Amino acid sequence: MPQEPRIDPISCREQDLGRFEILHNCGRARLGRLHTARGPLHTPALLPVINPNIRTIEPREMWQRWGIEGLITNSYIIWKHEELNKEARDNGVHQLIDYPGVIVCDSGTFQSYVYGDVEVGVEEIVEFQKDIGVDIATMLDVFTRPDMNRSQVEKAVDDTSGRAPASIQASGEMMLNGPVQGGLYCDLRRKSAKDMAKHDFAVHPIGGIVPIMEQQNYVELCKVMLSAIPELPIERPVHLFGCGHPMLFPMAVALGADLFDSAAYALFARDDRLLTPWGTVKLQDLEHWPVTSPTLFGITPQEVRELDDDDRCKLLARHNLDVSIAELDRCRQAVRDGTIWELVQMRSHQHPALKEAYDWIMKALTENTEWSKASGWLLEASPLQKNGGLKWFGKQDSKRPDITSPILRLQQRWRPAARSRRALILYGRSGPWRGIVGDKVSSLRILIEDLEIFIHTPMGLLPWSLEDLNPFAHILEDSGLHKQKPEMEKCLKELDLMNFHTEEVSFLDISKKEKVAEKLSGIFPELKELGADDISKGRYLLEQEQAIAKLAFFADLEPKIAVMELDGCDFVHSNTGRVKNILLNDGRHVASPRLTDGGMSLTAKGASWLHSLREVEFPSGFESNSESHQGPPWVVIDSDAVPFVKQGRNVFHGFIKAADGWLRNGMYCLVVDEDGTLVGHGKAMSTISGMQRLQKGIAVKVRNGID
Ligand code: GUN
Repeated sequence: MPQEPRIDPISCREQDLGRFEILHNCGRARLGRLHTARGPLHTPALLPVINPNIRTIEPREMWQRWGIEGLITNSYIIWKHEELNKEARDNGVHQLIDYPGVIVCDSGTFQSYVYGDVEVGVEEIVEFQKDIGVDIATMLDVFTRPDMNRSQVEKAVDDTSGRAPASIQASGEMMLNGPVQGGLYCDLRRKSAKDMAKHDFAVHPIGGIVPIMEQQNYVELCKVMLSAIPELPIERPVHLFGCGHPMLFPMAVALGADLFDSAAYALFARDDRLLTPWGTVKLQDLEHWPVTSPTLFGITPQEVRELDDDDRCKLLARHNLDVSIAELDRCRQAVRDGTIWELVQMRSHQHPALKEAYDWIMKALTENTEWSKASGWLLEASPLQKNGGLKWFGKQDSKRPDITSPILRLQQRWRPAARSRRALILYGRSGPWRGIVGDKVSSLRILIEDLEIFIHTPMGLLPWSLEDLNPFAHILEDSGLHKQKPEMEKCLKELDLMNFHTEEVSFLDISKKEKVAEKLSGIFPELKELGADDISKGRYLLEQEQAIAKLAFFADLEPKIAVMELDGCDFVHSNTGRVKNILLNDGRHVASPRLTDGGMSLTAKGASWLHSLREVEFPSGFESNSESHQGPPWVVIDSDAVPFVKQGRNVFHGFIKAADGWLRNGMYCLVVDEDGTLVGHGKAMSTISGMQRLQKGIAVKVRNGID
């Protein structure tokens, strides 16, 4: 069916030009929008490489057929070619290549790497890009090859940052790429990122990685990314220069890459090769398509082999672009779903080089102190919960940032009750556990005062007071981990980490509901049948403990304070007997547990209550810290934004004056004015440095405005 011509883009608003907005994130993976004069560039994005001399696919077709919002071409090639140079100067680069979207231009650095040197000047190439109307230009950086020695790389890093001021000056209003170099030297990558971050660049590409990727040395690629990206300003997109193979997209997105550029779709096509999300295959080896695409529907590998060279190359290039774009779209949906690390892990099983890199990441982040900054950087942005169930494929999963984050939160925030001396660990089945042992736990709560009950899950021990907490309670696995009796030593270690120092630990197998009573009396001979009053008292105490644990986990409330505040509290139940509302002893409805994920929603009254409990000082800046139990973090907003937030509108970036250092992405927070008066409450949509630096997009999704 013929398509309607896609209309040309409209410029973003003048005041937004050059700004990068984060629309969604999952850890450091983000869906963003870069505002340009050629419309928005949504990230993660793949910028197909266009060689102005050889166009395998017409740029106009890219705009029309794939909806590609941006591409990359090379200003040095245009500059060097007399006719192209003249035409570009006369009519602009958009007309030269017939493309209405965002045009990114490279500078000739890569040519200097391939051919030795280029004869263009540092200012000259930036000015040329400005003259031909490039949307995002690139300065002439100095390429760092992996085989360079330290002093060569040091010089290249310094020369690159030394060229930055003149390049920025020459760029005027045009957006400029400030590449990070540093070869294989992690400290020099950090230095380069810090140096380049000081200048007013719009985007930071990571350069010098093409030879690393060609060697499929993805461990080194991860090291480069984890050294450089944490040092770059959060409000600027990160581009992986020359990374265009779809097999790298999930991992690169999870580590913070926003832009990719691909010549691979055309280069591999010229070589009769097809891209897949797990590697590359040769057309000559195929009887069937290992992965298909709209381009390949209705045609067989044999029929493609019989096409003439030009048609075959074009067809394969279209297919390669189809596959690349599909994989990037998969990444985007995974970011929205909170499953990007799941996708990284899945892809890691499809290629040994990816597996090696994935294993390295998991080890480095959890065991190697050299990478503790990178690990903290990833964890700071990782959500406390996940949407939906967690698919569990093995022990290594617990090292993933999206899984470590809730585990650490639990260890840091949960506290045993003051009366607790011994532990009972339930094991034998996956959640939900309430229907199987809920009544028994209520009886135990009354009869054995000093007992704290835990559930063994693949993610570790879960206190009964958080028994419905996602992801602990929603793990899909078939490796039998839930069923296995946990090891004593491991349990003692975990209890210690949760500040429960006990040696008295018993285990109860709950895999067979009908055997639970008998097994329990074997462990606790003092158990007896309880009357209805006692059972309901036990249930009340457990509900109270659940409210305390959730306030500690989600609102960072000190458990001892929560115990006092919830003395005499009341609960409203649903018709299935679950707690619907938590009421303080004066009847104020402060919170409601969320049944879908074991989370908790605070009411406006709850926010006022938590606000009144604060004892620590007013936040004065954006210094990150790891304080805990200080209550929900405050976000202080500009007076201009106050009337809007009071009406329940979201807090936007650019209106934030300060925030508490323990604020994390996805955390519940209180919004206050510059006098500390509460004006709203909601969920933080970015990290503390995002609160400080981002200028566009939602900073706090406000649940209620408070007037
Ligand atoms: N293309 C691929 N790698 C690089 C690089 O390091 N710098 C520039 N400017 N372009 C590149």
